[in-house]
Order: sequence, then structure tokens, then C-alpha cells
Amino acid sequence: MKIITVLGARPQFIKAAPVSRELRKKHTELIIHTGQHYDANMSDIFFEELHIPKPDFHLGIGSGSHGKQTGEMLAEIEKIILDEKPDYLLVYGDTNSTLAGALAAAKLHVPVIHIEAGLRSFNKKMPEEINRIMTDHVSEYLFCPTDTAIENLTNENITHNVINVGDVMFDAVEYNRQLAEEKSTVLADHELTSKDFYLITVHRAENTDDPEKMKNILDAFAKTEGTKVWPIHPRTKHKLESIGFDLASVPGLKVIEPVGYLDMLTLEYHAKKILTDSGGVQKEAYFMEVPCVTLREQTEWVETLEGDANILVGTDVGKILDAVQKDVNPSYKPVFGDGKASEKIVDILQS
Ligand code: UD1
Ligand code: UDP
Repeated sequence: MKIITVLGARPQFIKAAPVSRELRKKHTELIIHTGQHYDANMSDIFFEELHIPKPDFHLGIGSGSHGKQTGEMLAEIEKIILDEKPDYLLVYGDTNSTLAGALAAAKLHVPVIHIEAGLRSFNKKMPEEINRIMTDHVSEYLFCPTDTAIENLTNENITHNVINVGDVMFDAVEYNRQLAEEKSTVLADHELTSKDFYLITVHRAENTDDPEKMKNILDAFAKTEGTKVWPIHPRTKHKLESIGFDLASVPGLKVIEPVGYLDMLTLEYHAKKILTDSGGVQKEAYFMEVPCVTLREQTEWVETLEGDANILVGTDVGKILDAVQKDVNPSYKPVFGDGKASEKIVDILQS
């Protein structure tokens, strides 16, 4: 089989690492990197650290409005599909790179494989929700991470070639967790003590693009006592700079550059609690049984809410502080597969 994989954003590199490793044992994979994420610590670091094969095509599209960014990707991916004539085109998750890859292939009658299919927040104001719905509806093979994802697709009358294989992000954590513990020096580098700091990530457009919500979030961080470490997403950094917010004024807050995956797993595992609006980070907190507070009104990952392992708080200061104070002891239930999702995907495609 000849498969073209389209990648572009940080979480897609992490998802692709275990799948590419399996795929390349027997098949030909060509990687297109759209260039949606381009800073070294948002892109190259993951290829190097996770031994993801170097992209065969780098589109260098970069940042832009949704239409411009997605449209430019679409035009470039189309040319490559026409030249390479793949048997399948593979996309992950819900970014603009996902949608561009899926649309380009579907229009050329190349079957689309969607990994992490069927997720829904039921909030169409999120760009990701539009990307997921559109991608699922043009995909030929829909590999779901959970039973909830299957149900979501059933409700939209998508039932053909829909399979729960488990979550490839769980595969990635299983593969790298021990390695992270052995290799990462991130705790020492930032003078952090295990279980004595909060880990923060914020990058969701619904938060960063709303000054009122950001003000609340930052107010809650300031009122949370103790050390807080925040590997800041470039989107958030730029937004806060543009409104002139000085993060140095938040007591106990250590703002650091985005970190590599092994450092991130280490920060997550050793945090006493995680405050985030990231999809991937919510799941990783659950996989590693670290309590999570989610700075959103909805989550696609409803399984993580069990037993308050993950508490949805939106951006209300009081709710954030209550959730931070709440004593919870998460315990992982095996609802995200057995760490072999990538193998299953390749076996199913093979057969
Ligand atoms: C994108 C995805 C989001 C995903 C996130 C993962 C879409 C619509 N959104 O959001 O679903 O959760 O990636 O991190 O596809 N920037 C840099 N350097 C970079 C990358 C981005 O400075 O390497 C800055 C630019 O100012 C850019 C902004 O971040 O305008 C937003 O980047 P973009 O890729 O458009 O969206 P994300 O917020 O990263
Ligand atoms: N991540 C990372 N370094 C960071 C922040 C996040 O390696 O500084 C990893 C994190 O462990 C998870 C993925 O990036 O695997 C999540 O990506 P992100 O939060 O950017 O996007 P989302 O999952 O919300 O789409």
C-alpha cells in the first residue's frame, strides 16, 4: 500500500509517531508537512525526539486566516496526490491541516483514513468541530478512539468502516512514559519538585481570542497559591503581548517555552494538578492519573470526567478555584484501548 499522511500541528506529530512506526514495517508512507506549525519547538523537536521520518514534502504554509491557510494547503496537497497517486490518504484529529488533506483526497477519489474520528464537542463555534465533522463525512475508514466516538458517528448516520481501535495517544504515552522518566531533566532545569507544582496549558481560540475569558483565567492563576509552570503556546504568547498583559505580575508563575514531548510527559506526571484547555493534555492527565481542571465549557473526551478526574470549569474564576482545591484521586479505566491502536489500524488496513 502507498499511503500519504498529512501532518501540520503539534498533536498530529505525536499521534503519527506510533502509527508511522507500524505502517512502515510493511507499507510505503509519504509524509506531507503542511507547515501549519513551524517553530522548532512546535515541530522539529517532535520529529527528532520521536524518530518520525522526515517529511517527503514540506509545504511551508505557515499561519493565516482559516480560509487562506486551509485553501493554500488544499491546492498544494492536490498537486502531490495527482503526482503520487496514493492508495489512501491519512489524516489525524481536527486541525485545518486535517480538513485540507481530507478534502483534497476525497475530491480526487482517494479514500481518506481518519484517525481520531468521531469526536464531538457539539460547539460549532470551535474551528476544530467544523474540521472534524467535515473530515468524518468524507472519510472512508474512520478509526475511533472510544465508544462515545462510535456513537457520535452513528448519530450522524456514519456506520460504514467505523472501528474503535483505541487511542493512538495512549499508544504514544505507553511507549514514551518510561523513556521520559529516564531522559528528561525538565524538573531540575526549572527547579520544580515532584507533586509540588501545577502545570498549565492554554491555547484554545475560544479562550485566547476573548480578552474577558483570558482575564478570568489569569485572575484564577494569580489566586492559585504555589508554583505554576506554563509552557506557553505561541498563539497565547502573541495574544497576551498584543493586549499588553505582563505574566511576570502573576505570583508563582513560571512561564517557559513550549517543551518537547518527553519533557511534557514528565511535567504532566509530576504535576499535582493540570489546568488546561488542550484536548491531548486532558487525556494524558487521565492516562497518568493526574487530576485535571479543564478551562472549557465542553469536552470531547467525556470519559475523563468520571469521578471528577477531569473537572470542566469554563472560565469562571470561582469554579476554577473550587476545582483546584478539590481533593480527587483519579483512577484510569481502560476506555482508551490497550496501547495497540496503531497495530490494529495497520492490521485492518492490510486486511
Ligand atoms: C492549531 C489547531 C488546534 C490545535 C492546535 C495544537 C486549527 C484550526 N487549530 O491551533 O486545533 O489544538 O493547533 O497546538 O487547526 N504560531 C507560531 N508558531 C508556530 C505555530 C503557531 O507563532 O509554530 C502562532 C501564530 O501566531 C499563529 C497562531 O500561533 O497565528 C495560531 O496557530 P494555528 O496553527 O493557526 O492555530 P493553533 O492555535 O496553533
Ligand atoms: N505538548 C508538548 N509540549 C508542550 C505542550 C503540549 O509536547 O509544551 C504535547 C502534549 O503532551 C500533547 C499534545 O502536545 O501530546 C497536545 O497538543 P496541543 O495541546 O497543542 O493540542 P490539542 O491536543 O489541544 O489539539
